[in-house]
Amino acid sequence: MGFHTFALGYRPVILMLSSLFSSVDDYHGTKVPDPYSWLEDPDSEKTQAFVSAQNQLTLPYLERCEVRDLFKERMTELYDYPKYSCPFKRGSRYFHFYNTGLQNQSVMYVQESLDAEPTVFLDPNTFSDDGTVALRGYAFSEDGEYLAYGTSASGSDWVEIHFLRVEDATPMEDRLERVKFSCMSWTHDGKGLFYNSYPKQEGKSDGTETSTNLHQKLYFHVLGTPQSEDVLCAEFPEHPKWMSGAEVSDDGRYVLLSIREGCDPVNRLWYCDLQTNPQGITGLLPWVKLIDNFDAEYEYVTNEATVFTFKTNLDAPRYRLINIDFASPAQSNWKELIPQHDKDVIVFATCTYASFLFVCFLHDVKNVLKMYRLSSGEELKTFPLDVGSVVGFTGRKRDSEIFYYFTSFLSPAIIYHCDLTKEPLQPHIFREVTVKGFNPSDYQTTQIFYPSKDGTQIPMFIVHKKGIKLDGSHPGFLYGYGGFNISITPSYSVSRLIFVRHLGGVLAVANIRGGGEYGETWHKAGMLANKQNCFTDFQCAAEYLVKEGYTSPSKLTINGGSNGGLLVAACVNQRPELFGCAVAQVGVMDMLKFHKFTIGHAWTTDFGCSEDKEQFNWLIKYSPLHNIRIPEGNGVQYPAVLLLTGDHDDRVVPLHSLKYIATLQHIVGRSTKQTNPLFILVDTKSGHGAGKPTSKVIQEVADTYAFIARCLNITWVK
Ligand SMILES: *[C@@H]1O[C@H](CO)[C@@H](O)[C@H](O)[C@H]1NC(C)=O
Ligand SMILES: *[C@@H]1O[C@H](CO)[C@@H](O)[C@H](O)[C@H]1NC(C)=O
Ligand SMILES: *[C@@H]1O[C@H](CO)[C@@H](O)[C@H](O)[C@H]1NC(C)=O
Repeated sequence: MGFHTFALGYRPVILMLSSLFSSVDDYHGTKVPDPYSWLEDPDSEKTQAFVSAQNQLTLPYLERCEVRDLFKERMTELYDYPKYSCPFKRGSRYFHFYNTGLQNQSVMYVQESLDAEPTVFLDPNTFSDDGTVALRGYAFSEDGEYLAYGTSASGSDWVEIHFLRVEDATPMEDRLERVKFSCMSWTHDGKGLFYNSYPKQEGKSDGTETSTNLHQKLYFHVLGTPQSEDVLCAEFPEHPKWMSGAEVSDDGRYVLLSIREGCDPVNRLWYCDLQTNPQGITGLLPWVKLIDNFDAEYEYVTNEATVFTFKTNLDAPRYRLINIDFASPAQSNWKELIPQHDKDVIVFATCTYASFLFVCFLHDVKNVLKMYRLSSGEELKTFPLDVGSVVGFTGRKRDSEIFYYFTSFLSPAIIYHCDLTKEPLQPHIFREVTVKGFNPSDYQTTQIFYPSKDGTQIPMFIVHKKGIKLDGSHPGFLYGYGGFNISITPSYSVSRLIFVRHLGGVLAVANIRGGGEYGETWHKAGMLANKQNCFTDFQCAAEYLVKEGYTSPSKLTINGGSNGGLLVAACVNQRPELFGCAVAQVGVMDMLKFHKFTIGHAWTTDFGCSEDKEQFNWLIKYSPLHNIRIPEGNGVQYPAVLLLTGDHDDRVVPLHSLKYIATLQHIVGRSTKQTNPLFILVDTKSGHGAGKPTSKVIQEVADTYAFIARCLNITWVK
C-alpha cells in the first residue's frame, strides 16, 4: 500500500502541468494529442522539476527494499573478479585491458612480450575523479608507435580524440572534437588518421541536448597539426543522413569508404587508391564508387593486391564471402569464396597469418569458430567451443597467432591462444576466470524452442538451479531485445546470477525476431510492418515459461533496454496481465517522434517513420506512449513498472521515458485498481550504457532487483 500513496500524492502535479501546455499533432489527417511535449525540453525548469519530483518518489521506495543493500553487498563481492580482454599485438608490443574487479574503468596494459610483466599504459580511471569519463574507441598506427583514443563523458556519444606516443606514453597536443559515431583509421605512413565529425551546432553539445545529428563528414587529421587544418575527405550535402566510415586496407594502399544511411546492414562501398592519388590527402578524395546503392552489406575482410574479399549479405541472408577484383569489378566477375551455409550465419570473418581466414558463425544462437584457406576458401579446421559466445577475437593479417574470448551464462571468461606457426594447431587456455563464491555446477542452462503465435520456432535460453520443481512458484526474469540485427548470445551476468541464486529465480533470454540470430531473414521478420512479431514472440516466451511451470505471471519480470525498452513497454501495454513487473531501460517510447532527436533518424530503417502515412499506421498501433489504457477486466492492472534512464543519454534521449511515465501515471496510475507502482529513476552523469562506471552499474542492478523483489514479494535466500 505504500506505493499507492506515492502515486496518489504525485497525481496533482502531473495534472496541473499537463493542463497548462497541451499540444496536438496532425499525422495525415489523424489528430494525436501530445500533452507532455513540454518534457521534450530537457533544460526547462518544469522538466527539471518533473525529473526531480519523480526521483524523489522512486528513491524512498527503493531505499525501503530490504533486498537493495543485500544485493549491492553481494554484487560488490561477486563482481570483484579479474576481467581481462584478449591480448593484441601492435608493432612489437602486446596490449590488453584489465580490470582488477571493481575499478570503474578497465585499464590498458602494455607488455614487451607475452611473458613480460605488464605495465599500465593508459588508465581511464585517471580521466575523471568519479569514473564517468570512459575510453570510447582507439586505433594504433601501423607501426604501433602512436595511439589515437576517444574519450566520452557521462555516457554521451560525443567523443574527443586524443593522441599518445606509445614508447613513453607521452600525451600529444592534438585534440579532435565534435566527434560522434566515428571511424578511426591511420594511413600506414603514420602521418595521420581518418575520423568523422559533425558540423558545429547551436547550443550545447554535452550529451544533454536533443538536437538532431545530420551531415556527418569524414576528415583526415595530420598528426601534429590543429584540428582546424584537418582535410575534409568526404561529405554528402545532398544526403544529410548518410554516415561514413573509412578503413585503410591491410596493405595500406587503399582507403575503403563504407556509407550507411541508417542501421540496416547495407552500405555503399567507395574506395580510393592512395598510390595513384597524385596530390596525396589534400582534399575531397577521388572516390571510386564500387558499390553505389544500399542493396546489400559489403564488409572488407582483406585484399591480395587488387582482389578484395568482402563479407556480404548480397543474395545471402546468412552471409557469405566473395572476392571482387578491383581491376575487373563488373558484378559478373565476382567470385564466391565461402558460400552461405544452410542454417548458420556468418558473424565475422578476419584474415590472420597472411593466408588464413577465421570465420565465426552463429549456429542456433551458439558460436562456432572455423578456419579456412584464404586462397581457395577450403575449410581447414573447427575450433572446439562449449555452448556459448565468442565475444573477443584478436589476430590480424600480419600476426601469427590468435586469441579468442569465450563466455557463457555460467562461465565468465576463457581466453584461448593459438600459435599458428605450430602444426598441428592446438589452441590452449591462456586465461580462465572463475568467480569465487558461486559454483556453476549447481546451475544449468537449457536451450528450448517455443512456438510463437504464427508457429515460428523461437529459441530461448533458460538458466536455473538444478533440480528445481517446475510448479510455477519461481520468480522469472525474461530478457529480450528484438531488433536492429542484434543477436543476443549467451553472456555472463553476475547480477542475473544473484537473482537466480539469492532470489530463487529463473533467468530466460528469448531470441525473438528482429535480431540477427538467423541472419537477415530473422531481422526482417521483426522490423517495419513486421515489428509486432517482436512483441508477440516475447509474449509467447512468457506464456511458455508459465505453461511449463518455470514461473507464473505474478512472479514474472520482463526486462530490456533501448529497443528492448520499447519491447518491454509495448508488451506491458498489450498484455498487462501477463507480467508482475517490468523494467525498461533507456527505451524508445514515442514512436511518432523518435526520428526528430539526435540520431533517432537512423532507426527508421527498423521502425519506419510517422511522416509516411502507411508507416504512421504501423507505428501508432504499438507506440508505447500512444497505447496506454486502463486494462479491461476485473482486477486486471498494469504490472509494477520501473523505467531507468540517464540525463546524458543522447542515443535514446530521456524524453521518451519521461513522456511515457507521465502518461502512464496520468492514465493508469489514476485508476483505483492500479496498486502496483509506476516509477522512473533518472540517473545523473549517465548515458545510454556504454562506458558506465562499475560503481553506477552496481547501484543500478541493486536498484533494479530491489524493486523487483519488493514488488513481487521475493525474499532473499541466504
Ligand atoms: C568508482 O567511482 C566512485 C565514484 O563515482 C567512487 O566512489 C569509487 O571509489 C570508485 N571505485 C574505485 C574502485 O575506484
Ligand atoms: C548483422 O548480423 C550479421 C549476423 O550476426 C552480421 O554478420 C552482420 O555484420 C550484421 N550487420 C550489421 C550492420 O550489424
Ligand atoms: C510475501 O511473502 C511472505 C513470505 O514468503 C508471505 O508470508 C506473505 O504472505 C507474502 N505477501 C504477499 C502480499 O503475497
